[in-house]
Amino acid sequence: GAPVEVNVSKIEPGQLIRAEWRGKPVYVIRRTEEILSTLAAHDDQLKDPGSEEPQQPTYATNAYRSIKPEFMVALGVCTHLGCAPTHHQGDFEEFVEGVKDGFFCPCHGSKFDMAGRVFQSVPAPTNLVVPEHSFPTADTLLIG
Ligand code: FES
Repeated sequence: GAPVEVNVSKIEPGQLIRAEWRGKPVYVIRRTEEILSTLAAHDDQLKDPGSEEPQQPTYATNAYRSIKPEFMVALGVCTHLGCAPTHHQGDFEEFVEGVKDGFFCPCHGSKFDMAGRVFQSVPAPTNLVVPEHSFPTADTLLIG
């Protein structure tokens, strides 16, 4: 499939937009400074906090799992059985105490943080997959 282009300048801070690449949903999220600053706080509650499993390209193997910390790019596909996790903004604490934002999979209750990292004690085995992507210009994200 051809790469998909997304204009990231239109994404508001905190907002998630959906793209489609090779028939799969891709979530693109503009993370705020606040979200980024809280990511490290719950490492001890995650299955693979350092993303040791190869669920992302090497250039996204870092604390934010992204090229630019601001922009999270991940397949919107639960690594358990493929349902679409739901983005929770500000009300994620009903799923994980002390964590305001994240993703909840309605199928069997898997939980992911704002870097797509999976929490412990849920069926999803690994972090959400980060697809290959690049930023040919400051405003342009190319997926694939
Ligand atoms: Fe997401 Fe099973 S498909 S928890």
